[in-house]
Amino acid sequence: MSNASNRPIGVFDSGIGGLTVVAEIMRQLPREEIVYFGDTARLPYGPKSPETVTQFSIEDTEFLLRNDVKMIVVACNTASSVAVDALSARYDLPVVGVIRPGALAAVSSTLRGKIGVIGTEGTIASRAYSKAIGKLDRDAEVIERSCPLFVPLAEEGWTDREVTLVIAHEYLTPLRDAGVDVVVLGCTHYPILKGTIGKVFGPNVRLIDSAEETASEVAERLGAFSLEREAGGDLEHRFYVTDVPHRFREQAERFLGGRLPRVDLVSIDELG
Ligand code: DGL
Repeated sequence: MSNASNRPIGVFDSGIGGLTVVAEIMRQLPREEIVYFGDTARLPYGPKSPETVTQFSIEDTEFLLRNDVKMIVVACNTASSVAVDALSARYDLPVVGVIRPGALAAVSSTLRGKIGVIGTEGTIASRAYSKAIGKLDRDAEVIERSCPLFVPLAEEGWTDREVTLVIAHEYLTPLRDAGVDVVVLGCTHYPILKGTIGKVFGPNVRLIDSAEETASEVAERLGAFSLEREAGGDLEHRFYVTDVPHRFREQAERFLGGRLPRVDLVSIDELG
């Protein structure tokens, strides 16, 4: 395609959770075309080492580049925590992760300067959110907590079961008792559990959905690089995954909040 701005946006995640970010990009930027890559065969990234997640992120990005994308969106919080700098240094195109947008929103929303961050083990161990928040507001106090059971609960669709609420209380009560007034939902899956998480914190704690904030950052960066799509006509979003797990369509539609178009399988042998 001759006009660089008419190329698609590439989005990758460890699996289908990144479809929460895709749904937001589609909502905020309805003219943009998307190529999505979900590494379902190698999911989860959350418990893996930073080295492995960075290597996978490079391979995921290479796949998207072969699809002629104009921007890389790292929808996975775990990958964003450890790999965005490496990707930005390695590739000559804008790379947007989910950490900075979430940190910005948290800092601008907090009144008490006490911010909670929840995510996978990898995200919390990296302290990526604490560091990003610290750069924006040195005085902010950040309390972090990993909530690994939230990923399978969201994939199971157990959004408002009693057991989910019990687990949410177990993970989140210390943050609530510490007096946080803002909590960053630092994982692709957590927006699905927003209702239950909100029940633990009550109405006075604001939950930051990093998908929403990331889509706004994508819009800003497209503008800054004059990369907004100009072409009219039908959009052909494309979705690729490295495995098709049981109940894939049902799970994917839950994350996308609507019908999933055609999905193509990519062998992980093609990635390396
Ligand atoms: N996509 C991951 C994240 O946002 C959650 C799932 C996983 O552990 O791979 O951190």
